Amino acid sequence: MGEFSFMIETCTPEETTALAERLGAAAEAGTVLCLVGNLGAGKTLFTQGFARGLGVTEDVTSPTFALMNQYRGRLPVTHFDLYRLEREDELDEIGFYEYAEDGRSVVLIEWADKFPDALPTPHIRLEIERGEAENERRLAFFTTEEESALWRALKEK
Ligand SMILES: Nc1ncnc2c1ncn2[C@@H]1O[C@H](COP(=O)(O)OP(=O)(O)O)[C@@H](O)[C@H]1O
Ligand SMILES: [Mg+2]
Repeated sequence: MGEFSFMIETCTPEETTALAERLGAAAEAGTVLCLVGNLGAGKTLFTQGFARGLGVTEDVTSPTFALMNQYRGRLPVTHFDLYRLEREDELDEIGFYEYAEDGRSVVLIEWADKFPDALPTPHIRLEIERGEAENERRLAFFTTEEESALWRALKEK
């Protein structure tokens, strides 16, 4: 299957937040965004901006211990952080498949690359890498399915 990609560089956290907020404002139900990148890359920061764009007013925190948090915005938002999950069969126990594939919410999954076979399709993968400068980040988006509001918004940039 073909894969489409889109790259953006940001130089400050605020720039990443602004991009995320704009994309969150465009996201539709059933969108799954898989976030990949080292600790401190900006996965949670991006999720916070994205949720704000979706109309979430509550504070979004990393669900590292809870593994999953849900928020109510214009659409329900489900935020997973799989960092501490050790085995793929635990995904079932935490209700991952039910929530990730319910089609009515927007789903963000940090450390999604730990369990590549478990991810819903289609989804958008966002890989965040540090650049040379302290606050420089390279955001690389990938998808197999270009027909989504999020992908269209991304390309409008
Ligand atoms: N351009 C940038 N984009 C995103 N975060 C940045 C950027 N520059 C610096 N940062 C900082 O990097 C950190 C990212 O942390 P966080 O989002 O918790 O990472 P992760 O969830 O990937 O472990 C934050 O402290 C943020 O302020
Ligand atoms: Mg995080």
